[in-house]
Amino acid sequence: MRHLKDKNIVLGVSGGIAAYKGAELLRLIKKEEAVARVIMTANATSFVGPLTFEALSGNPVCTSLFEKGGNASIRHIEWAKEADAVVVAPATANIIGKIACGIADDALSTFLLAVKSPVLICPSMNTNMYEKVSVKRNIDILKKDGYLIVEPDAGELACGTTGQGRLPEPENILDRLVSCLTPKDYKGKRVLVTAGSTREHFDPVRYIGNPSSGKMGYAVARAAEHRGAEVLLVSGPTNLKPPANVKTITTESAEDMAAAVFDHVKNADIVIKAAAVSDYRPKDVAKQKIKKGEEETLLVLKKSEDILLKLGKNKESRILVGFAAETENLENNAREKLIKKNLDMIVANLLDGKYSGFGTETNKVTLFFRNGDKEVLPLMDKESVAHILLDRILEINAGNSLERNL
Ligand SMILES: Cc1cc2nc3c(=O)[nH]c(=O)nc-3n(C[C@H](O)[C@H](O)[C@H](O)COP(=O)(O)O)c2cc1C
Repeated sequence: MRHLKDKNIVLGVSGGIAAYKGAELLRLIKKEEAVARVIMTANATSFVGPLTFEALSGNPVCTSLFEKGGNASIRHIEWAKEADAVVVAPATANIIGKIACGIADDALSTFLLAVKSPVLICPSMNTNMYEKVSVKRNIDILKKDGYLIVEPDAGELACGTTGQGRLPEPENILDRLVSCLTPKDYKGKRVLVTAGSTREHFDPVRYIGNPSSGKMGYAVARAAEHRGAEVLLVSGPTNLKPPANVKTITTESAEDMAAAVFDHVKNADIVIKAAAVSDYRPKDVAKQKIKKGEEETLLVLKKSEDILLKLGKNKESRILVGFAAETENLENNAREKLIKKNLDMIVANLLDGKYSGFGTETNKVTLFFRNGDKEVLPLMDKESVAHILLDRILEINAGNSLERNL
């Protein structure tokens, strides 16, 4: 999914040690097929040469208000008019102070006064500088003035100190940029998403599990957050980083997941259950590791609580969406689950292994609706699937009839 396709993005780079990360951010912005333009402060050019940004952006880099040639002298005003969004990364204490005070004494600060689009500021500096009262005060002023602040990470800094002040990874900055350009049609909605697998231990070191990577559920949580929802993610074990601005509860077994879901479901308007939950768990769990013994051994399983069934029984006005991963009889199994569990929509896919299902980047799903409709979606990345699910949920919420050519 190309979120920034044809969007006009201006990257401002100021003179911090993390200026080199600006180049990686620019590469990611270009990968999204955006039109990218770069404005550097004079001090930024001491860290990274403008040529790097020129080559990566495919556009001339603006480094001075008084450049010659073409429309260079009014470039900062033209670019300000055309910008869909601006990101300043890294943002030095100096440029933050200048923006807070309305100072316009170079190309970047003047451009920032002229621009009307959303502006993301990514502070990055030594921890003592970041914690200085004046810097905090300036950042607060920017927040009040409507700038979006991407808080710096904590960790080891280039200057040798450890603390807050490190520029977040470029992919996280890109995520915030995408978020700020996404229409907020989920504003005021509370969405609970489950994702990942479950692990049912039969001794302290072994369990029954499944290969769910959590990618589908995480994509739904991220997309809902981008669209302005308040999102709670209940996640079984995965290797994924929780999406920004999403409260995440991590669980291990189906029982843990059930407890977390039932603790929080009262606060949800929409529940999307993308986790692959084990139906059974070992009846007994050995206290110590089970030693190798007989040629054959027996593991007795007992049924776990059916989270979706219970959610369906206590549905109230909530919208409930389930997933069905099947190896056969996709349509029958999915329709049966939709009715039995009192769902509004079920997202069904055949586990074909290569492009669709567990661990893949893409998914090929069919949606089944309560009114009997079905919608076959082509193979697409999981984020695109997530956005279509969220579109359909809004339609269900609005009581729209789903009349499509299916
Ligand atoms: C090696 C070096 C690293 C620096 N790193 C940072 C930094 O990470 N963050 C910051 O706010 N200032 C940093 N500074 C100080 C800024 O370069 C200085 O405040 C400068 O005036 C910023 O100018 P600008 O905001 O116009 O780019 C650094 C300076 C030097 C010499």
